Amino acid sequence: MESNTKKLWGGRFSGSTAASVEAFTESISYDSRLSTYDIAGSKAHATMLAANGLLSKDELVSITEGLTAIKTKIDEGTFPFKSELEDIHMNIEKALIDAIGPAGAKLHSARSRNDQIALDFRMYLRDQCDIFVELLDDLRRAFALLAKEYMGKMMPGYTHMQRAQPVLVSHHMMAYFEMFGRDRERIIDCRKRINICPLGAAAMAGSGLPIDREMVAEILGFDGVTANSMDTAGDRDFALEFTSCCTMIQLHLSRLSEELVLWSSQEFSFVQISDKFCTGSSIMPQKKNPDIPELIRGKSGRVVGSLMSLITLMKGLPLTYNRDLQEDKEPVFDAVDTVSASMAIMAEMLGNLTFNTERMEDATKTGFMTATDLADYLVLHDVPFREAHGIVGRAVATCIEKGCELTDLSLAEMREFSDVIDKDIFEVLSVEGSVNSRISTGGTAIQRVEEAVAAAGKLMGIGE
Ligand code: ARG
Repeated sequence: MESNTKKLWGGRFSGSTAASVEAFTESISYDSRLSTYDIAGSKAHATMLAANGLLSKDELVSITEGLTAIKTKIDEGTFPFKSELEDIHMNIEKALIDAIGPAGAKLHSARSRNDQIALDFRMYLRDQCDIFVELLDDLRRAFALLAKEYMGKMMPGYTHMQRAQPVLVSHHMMAYFEMFGRDRERIIDCRKRINICPLGAAAMAGSGLPIDREMVAEILGFDGVTANSMDTAGDRDFALEFTSCCTMIQLHLSRLSEELVLWSSQEFSFVQISDKFCTGSSIMPQKKNPDIPELIRGKSGRVVGSLMSLITLMKGLPLTYNRDLQEDKEPVFDAVDTVSASMAIMAEMLGNLTFNTERMEDATKTGFMTATDLADYLVLHDVPFREAHGIVGRAVATCIEKGCELTDLSLAEMREFSDVIDKDIFEVLSVEGSVNSRISTGGTAIQRVEEAVAAAGKLMGIGE
């Protein structure tokens, strides 16, 4: 089977393309998503061509109107995308030529699909960066609100998944606020490198026609133009960097999801995920499953996979453009869809989360969680830390033998371990005493956490 559609590049060919080849090489099935950018880029390119005598005024008008009409059709869903026209660039250019005739055939002057795809992709990712920042802000707002709502409530903090030291629930929430804050910074930084205009690199060596790259860049809102045409035609660092930011976000979401799955188990019972965000089992009537966090955790596999695809795609590609690069779109699109959907639903779910504060607080009362406080107390009484560590270790061992907690020992029993211990030790060993002693910058003391939550509230526009 051979295709009869006349190709825009068909001049040097005498035979037509095999249908199997068209099916194998097409990208329109997924790059149609770039149509808005392709059209905006073409309009800016045409404006620049006209300003430099490469198009007449009338030609510019008919190109611009033709492109607008195509965009309307695409938006209405009536534009006939054709796989025999390969990609978004050819589909739009062919439709333009069919609609307006010879003027349309002038549009591709001083341009190649190589710089055109780089342009579309950069414009698309630039918009995604802006959307991601908003989604990250929604997420951070949800953490700041939870931190505010549960201010003063205690929970165990863990290391090695063992109870370590008591912390404020709000401190735990604010940890995620910080993580997603770094993700936000990364996206904003990545956007700077995305927002450089590649158009004018042409196939890879630049253009011999009198063009004005800076003008196109300005029309399209870029911060500047790329410096080397060969680099520009072959570069996908920007897509890789963006996908690596996506991966980091999804990993953070996944860690949070893991905690939510654990915390909503009967063993923990720290949180209740709203019914709206859970599903039941088809066989076990008693089940309420935390599907949303499970799926978000599961989806981190495909985001990491997208990053790996891109890394492997780029490895070993000689300069400049190679058709391999067409394989860059699907992983990036999938990462965008997956991460944005995950961020949105996580923010929504956090707004419907209830902490079982009593249960969390109870959990801080066992497991010798204030043992470090006893060691610190001894240090403040001039006992060298290593010695203090040994003393507390022996005290804990005694308690384990007796089946009690440190606070259950009498003052006399305590003093057997060290005579510097006095009755003020009981305040020190209380959960509240422990939490509030951790007043160093970034610590869990209520004063520090209140400051952090207030700053976050201000940043996120949360009222009193
Ligand atoms: N569909 C192509 C891609 O995504 C566009 C650039 C094609 N360039 C070419 N010389 N065949 O990379």
